[in-house]
Amino acid sequence: MKFTSSRILSALGISLAFALSSSALAADKPIVIKFSHVVAAKTPKGQGALKFKEVAEKLLPGKVEVQVFPNSQLFGDGKEMEALLLGDVQFIAPSLSKFDRYTKKVQLFDLPFLFDDMEAVDRFQQSDKGKELLSSMKNRGLLGLAYWHNGMKELSTNKDRLQRPEDVKGLKFRIQASDVLEAQFRALGANPQKLAFSEVYQALQTGVVDGQENTWSNIYSQKFHEVQKTIAETNHGVIDYMVVTNAQWWEGLPDDIRAGLEKAMAEATEYANAEAAKLNKRDKQLIVDAGKAKVVQLSKEDVAAWRKAMEPVWKKFEADIGADLIQAAQAANK
Ligand code: LMR
Repeated sequence: MKFTSSRILSALGISLAFALSSSALAADKPIVIKFSHVVAAKTPKGQGALKFKEVAEKLLPGKVEVQVFPNSQLFGDGKEMEALLLGDVQFIAPSLSKFDRYTKKVQLFDLPFLFDDMEAVDRFQQSDKGKELLSSMKNRGLLGLAYWHNGMKELSTNKDRLQRPEDVKGLKFRIQASDVLEAQFRALGANPQKLAFSEVYQALQTGVVDGQENTWSNIYSQKFHEVQKTIAETNHGVIDYMVVTNAQWWEGLPDDIRAGLEKAMAEATEYANAEAAKLNKRDKQLIVDAGKAKVVQLSKEDVAAWRKAMEPVWKKFEADIGADLIQAAQAANK
C-alpha cells in the first residue's frame, strides 16, 4: 500500500491527538477509593462511611471518587483485611475485636467490663496510648487513621431467662474472631463459635448457635431480635472500629490528596461518633417497641456476678496486651 506524505502526516496527527487526549483523560480521572464494610448503611459505621465519601468528594472535587460497599457486599470479615493488603480496597473499618492476627495490643478493647461507658472509651482512644495503637500494625502494612464508635455490647439468647452467668452455661454463642471473646465465653461455661458477621442471623435462626453479643444498632439492623427470645442489657464490653488503610498506598498518595482525605476522615469521625450514641438509643427503643425479644435490665448484684465470672480473662491476656496499656485504659474511667 502506498501513502502520500499528506495522508501519513494526517494519520500521525490523529494518533498524536488521541494519545494526548487519552493521557489528559488519564490525568483527569479521579482516584477511585473503595470503602468496604460489613454492616448496614443505617448504622454508625455505615453513616460514617457515607459522610467520608460526601466530604472527601467535596474537598477534592474531580480528584477522588469514593465508593462505599456496605453489608459485606464485597468482602466479609476475614477477607476484607487481605483485600486491603492486596490493594483491592483502600479503606475498611473492622471492629477492634478483629485485629488479633495483626497485633495483640488491640485485644485490649475486648477485655470484659474494662470501660464503664462510651465516654471512657473515647477518652482512652484520644489519649497518647490510645492514638499509638493506630500505628501499631504499620509493620504489617495496616495504618489506622481513626477510631469510630458503635457502642456497648448486650447479650442475647434464645432462652427465657438471661439474668445471671449461670443462665448461659452450656449455650453456644457466636463470637467475632477474637481469642479474648473466646476466653470470655469459656469463663462463663458457654461454647463460643467464631462466625463472620454476615452469617450470624442464619446461625441464630437455625439454632446453630443459641446466642450472641452485639450493640443495639447491630442487633436491630440485622434483625437478631426477631430470632432471639431475650436480650440482657449487660454493657459488658464495647464494639468500636479502627478505620484502616493500606500504609503503602496511603504514603504513595500525592500530598494534597492525602491532606484532603485526612480532613474528610476527621469530619466523618466526628459525625459517626455523634451518630453512634443516637442510633443505638433509637434502635434499643425500636427493639423494645417491636416486642419480639424481651429486653431485661440487670441489678447491681447481677452485673457484679457477670463481672466476677468474666474476670479470669484479664489475667490470661495481660502479658500479651501489656499491663501498662490496661492501666491506661482503666484510668480513662475516672
Ligand atoms: C460483628 O461482627 O458482630 C461486628 O464487628 C460487626 C460490625 O462491624 O459492627
